[in-house]
This record gives sequence, C-alpha cells and structure tokens, in this order.
Amino acid sequence: MVTLEQIASLCKRRGFVYPTSDIYGGLTSSYDYGPMGAELLRNIRALWWKTFIHERIDMVGLDSQILLHPETWVASGHVGSFNDPLVEDSVTNKRYRADHLIEAWLTGHPDPAITVEDMTIEQMADFIETHGIASPEGNPLSKPKKFNLLFETKLGVVEGEKSLLYMRGETAQGIFTNFRNIVDSSRVQLPFGVGQIGKSFRNEITTGQFIFRTIELEQAEIEYFFDPNETDWQTLLDSWKDAMWSFVTTKMGVSPDHLQWRRHTDKERSHYSKDTFDLDYQFPFGWKELWGIAYRTDYDLRAQAEHSGVDLSFTNPQTGKKIIPHVIEPAVGINRLFLMVLADAYTQEEKRIVLKLSPALSPIKVAVFPLVANKPDLVTKARAVYEELKKTLVVSWDDRGNIGKRYLAQDEVGTPWCVTVDYATLEDGTVTVRDRDTTQQERIKVADLTAYFQAKLL
Ligand code: GAP
Repeated sequence: MVTLEQIASLCKRRGFVYPTSDIYGGLTSSYDYGPMGAELLRNIRALWWKTFIHERIDMVGLDSQILLHPETWVASGHVGSFNDPLVEDSVTNKRYRADHLIEAWLTGHPDPAITVEDMTIEQMADFIETHGIASPEGNPLSKPKKFNLLFETKLGVVEGEKSLLYMRGETAQGIFTNFRNIVDSSRVQLPFGVGQIGKSFRNEITTGQFIFRTIELEQAEIEYFFDPNETDWQTLLDSWKDAMWSFVTTKMGVSPDHLQWRRHTDKERSHYSKDTFDLDYQFPFGWKELWGIAYRTDYDLRAQAEHSGVDLSFTNPQTGKKIIPHVIEPAVGINRLFLMVLADAYTQEEKRIVLKLSPALSPIKVAVFPLVANKPDLVTKARAVYEELKKTLVVSWDDRGNIGKRYLAQDEVGTPWCVTVDYATLEDGTVTVRDRDTTQQERIKVADLTAYFQAKLL
C-alpha cells in the first residue's frame, strides 16, 4: 500500500499540494493546493454539487458566510462542547490529543474491552497515569484538559471596542440560520435538503497527518429536513448512506474494499446527534473517518429558534400543521476526498508511477505533444489540435524533453490521454492517442478527437 510520504512527495513534485508559507518553514497543519491540486479540488466540488444538488429534485444549494453572528455558536453548543482532550509534554510543551496517544498505546497493548471513544476526560487522565503513557518524545504528560476548537477573531478597528467572532467550525450552522429565508424564498416542500461547500476552521491539536486533518478545511455538508411523523428517520438515513457509498465508489471510482461503515458508540456521539455513522476509508495510516452521517433531530433548528427568537418551524401547506423539521446530515471534507482519491489512484508499476484517477476527476483530461519541438510544421499542427480541444476540455501542452518523459509526467498527474502529432499526421490527418492505464496507442482522425474524448468522459 502507498505510504503518506509517497503521496506527499508526489503532491509536492507534481504541483498538487505544498506546505502553506513554505518559504517561512510552513504553518502548522496548513497546506496550499498547486496547479494540479486546484483542478482536482474543483473537479471534486463540481462532482459533489452536480450529484447532490443539480441531479436531485429535493435539494437546493447555499453559500453562507464564514463569520456568523457569535450567538449562532452559543446556540449550537459549539462554544460549550466543541472540545478535544489536550495534553502537553511537560518538557517540550508540545501539545497532543490524549485520545490519540491512548489509541497509539492500545495498538501495542490491544484490549478489546477498552474503547477510547467512550472515555471521559477523567477516565483518560486515569488511564494515562495507570499505564504511564508518555509523550512521543518519551516525557511525562500533563493532565488532559478540554480544549475548544473554535477559532476566535475580532470585528472592528478600534482597540477596546472590538467584538468577539468565531470563524465557523462547520458549514452546517449557516444552513440552520438560513432555514427561514430558504423556506420563505423558494418553493421547497418537506422532505428537502440544503447543501453547501465552504471553508471551516478548527484549532486542531493533532499535527503530521498531511491534509487529513488541517486547521483550515473545506466541508461539503447537507442538512436534509423532514417531518418525523411522515418520514421514517432510519429509512432516510439508510438511503443517504447508500447515496454516499455510491458517490465514492461509482462516481469517484474508489475501491469498495477500502471502505467500511462504523457506527458511533453512545458515548462517542456528538452532543446534537441521536445516531451517527462514519464512512471510513483505509488511509495509509489506518481506517479513518472520510464522511460522517448524523441524525441531528430538531436539535439545531430548535436551539437557533430559541436563541434568536425567530420561528424556525415549517407549516404543512395541506394540513396547516406546524412542525420543527428534523435533519439527517451527511458531512464530508473535500480535502479528505482529495486525499482518498490520491491514495486510491496511486499505482507503482515497474517503470512508472501512475495516478489511475477516474477521468472525471483528472486535473487534465488530455495532453497534446508535437513529436519533436524543432519542426515548425509539427508544432503548428499540434498547436491547432491543442487550441481545438481546449474549447471543451482541460488540456495541457508539452513540447519539452522526449515523448517518454512527457508520458511519465502526465501519468503522475493522472492525465487519461496523451495525443501526439507526428509526421503521419501531416500526411493522413491522424494522431496517436495513448491511454494512461493500458499505455496502448491508437490512431484517431484529428476531426474526430473532440467527439472521441467526450464519449469517453460520459
Ligand atoms: N457538521 C458536522 C461536522 O462538522 P465532523 O465529523 O466534525 O462533522 C465532517 O466533520 C467532515 O469534515 C468529516 O467527516 C471530515 O471529512 C471533515 N473534517 C472534519 N475535521 C477536519 C479537519 N480538521 N481537516 C480536514 N477535514 C476535516
């Protein structure tokens, strides 16, 4: 299996992901997305939006702000309960998550009776003390304490008159706080869902997991509102689980062997949830949460209504009956989907590394090469092919080095097809199209190329 180091190395080498502020030595748990990464991110977002918003009759989209009224986060419970258990190395003062250190210790001392997710902070403190668990540097640890993950910022320019705001810890609350607006301004009927993609921020303690856990993250979240008297929540939850599974396997082309469901234990579930499942992916560092789905009941709409004083009920137009809708919430990180597709696509063959990405996700769909760069006839013809394909596809141009090197570079960024304009092109109007996965080549007429690729991308 591919290692995280191999993925990170390819990402830097080929322009997918760079450490943020690299020239200053980086910034903790922060990454920028390079030319290839920006395209892959766009493709993942677009596929999610198309699948869950545009292809469904019961979904609408939203784009709410990162900075919301601070009362939102008091109402949602994040100010009170959005905590991780923090411990500090008593010598280096480095910070760690107590649950992660206990989990690591348990891998060397397996005990099926112990589930770290179920431990209270006091139980973690006892466990660390009883078993003498030290920091990764081997030093004693402080007692675990609760550490709030919300990022704070200030609004206003005059010192002393600035007011406290939070950078959103999840995109979900922007959906709940807009519920009234959406119902009043669109013709939605229960059951219906609202989806949005956007940045969230979390003061994460854990470092060193590449883009798996970052302080700035992009979420794609759905709040699916329903009347619990008319819709069975378990059936609805199951249908959303199926939709998530099918998105990852069918649309993103990820192997089902690397996916599994895990139900949260009663103690582990978030404060707002009555039932939660994680769709776990087998990342290079183990089975970890890719995508969560929770039955949030009417917790959030009720809490936001109480704090704001605004009626967040829905009136059934047939019966006139008012209810506070319940919600099922499928919530995923775009960056985790990104890491998953890279891990799943990374293939080490005898003479090359190839990213076997689903063509729909590939940053570049087609690369066009003149066989050699110093023959003006070939370059002119290849440019014309490139310009034509560029009208409908994301296409790359490369005339550096030999053809073999160009193929290897495209294989590493997952370009499904390479087109070479050679001497035969000038005579018979055909080019070679080389397939990334099989490396087989076929000759296609220039006039048929656009249709050929469009058919492949369907
Ligand atoms: N609204 C529910 C919610 O935010 P969550 O399980 O905390 O639930 C949802 O987050 C998804 O967001 C996760 O399944 C994961 O894919 C992604 N995610 C959460 N924290 C992250 C982080 N620090 N870095 C990257 N992705 C993260």
